[in-house]
Amino acid sequence: MKKRILALVHDHLVPPEDTTGIDILEAEWKMEYDVIETLRERGHEVRVLGVHDDLAGIRPTAGFFEPHIIFNLMEAFAGVTTFDQNVVSYLELLRLRYTGCNPRGLILARDKALSKKLLAYHRIPVPDFTVVRYGHKPVLSKKLHFPLIVKSLFFEASAGISQASVVENVEQLARRVQFIHESLGTAAIVEQFIDGRELYVGVLGNERLDVFPVWEMSFAQMPDNRWRIATERVKWSTQYQKKHGIMTNAAKLDATATDGIQRIAKRAYRASISTGMRVSTCVWMTRDAPTCSKPTRTRTWRTERTSRSRPKWPAPRTKSSLTASLRWGSDGSRSGPDNEHQSPPSVIRTPARTARGSDGKPNDASYFLSRMFSMLV
Ligand SMILES: Nc1ncnc2c1ncn2[C@@H]1O[C@H](COP(=O)(O)OP(=O)(O)O)[C@@H](O)[C@H]1O
Ligand SMILES: [Mg+2]
Repeated sequence: MKKRILALVHDHLVPPEDTTGIDILEAEWKMEYDVIETLRERGHEVRVLGVHDDLAGIRPTAGFFEPHIIFNLMEAFAGVTTFDQNVVSYLELLRLRYTGCNPRGLILARDKALSKKLLAYHRIPVPDFTVVRYGHKPVLSKKLHFPLIVKSLFFEASAGISQASVVENVEQLARRVQFIHESLGTAAIVEQFIDGRELYVGVLGNERLDVFPVWEMSFAQMPDNRWRIATERVKWSTQYQKKHGIMTNAAKLDATATDGIQRIAKRAYRASISTGMRVSTCVWMTRDAPTCSKPTRTRTWRTERTSRSRPKWPAPRTKSSLTASLRWGSDGSRSGPDNEHQSPPSVIRTPARTARGSDGKPNDASYFLSRMFSMLV
């Protein structure tokens, strides 16, 4: 059924009406463009509202357009990413249905340590980790062994993640922790490094879950002396992607591996839902068992049919999705379910956002989001 959809986007990412002569694959607003165009191709009526530091436009626009749903592509407010949950809270106050994570999930998923603890509670294996508070020096527990990876406790989109994030001795560790503290101004999380393949799985549904095929980020021409991880440049620089042959494609795995990976993705999904936290979870696959890492955020679709009158709230059914990234290790290493700690999304600007498939078509998160959405409506 044709829907009225209000796409809420950052004002500097509103795609132009006329894209003639523009290389869309290189455009900053590619995700927004893909979502909007795909929805329109599916026959929906889409209006786009650009927002920066003022939510005042949402109420009147929703008032006259009466959208069935808001497609929320806002990842920050006034440039502050941690304010994203407040935008969603405002949509809830207005009783508007929206795609994406609820405010509670956004808050919980922001903390890479807290979200790991939640998954660990559900016996989902996650890498060991320790948190280094702002201004403090790292102290390693006996559980952690080099190489380790150092990240911001709160930032997403691989902010602050580069080759130097993987550390092999105490000097490198101290330097990288200091770098996170000073350059990003947040606490650092130091995780056991899981060596392996970078896999992603989308999960969608409520009681009955749809699991998407396992997807892989491959690093075809990455030199052997580099870590094959989704650094900031891997995610965001199309030049770097081309240089190192970084692409996302369907993963080549045998049936048992695929089954195991999809099952852990579903478990992570159910665990996050059961805690009321809708997260998109990064799950790392080792040879023995999948290891869940770094929940980011989930997309939730509220898709029930409504009349033109204001939709009822809360919506009777919620469709949620999870994108899990997994690591298929070569050394058989694993983190057990008894882990004290654990490590998404994604944002949801996931690595897949800018990488392309071998056919040159965009294999990006937005494309899948809009495809998932169109499956539902
Ligand atoms: N414990 C880990 N072991 C191996 N690689 C990791 C680990 N944690 C993160 N990475 C690499 O860094 C990337 C970004 O980390 P992630 O925790 O997902 O942060 P973000 O929220 O910025 O996406 C991952 O996609 C992966 O390539
Ligand atoms: Mg991630």
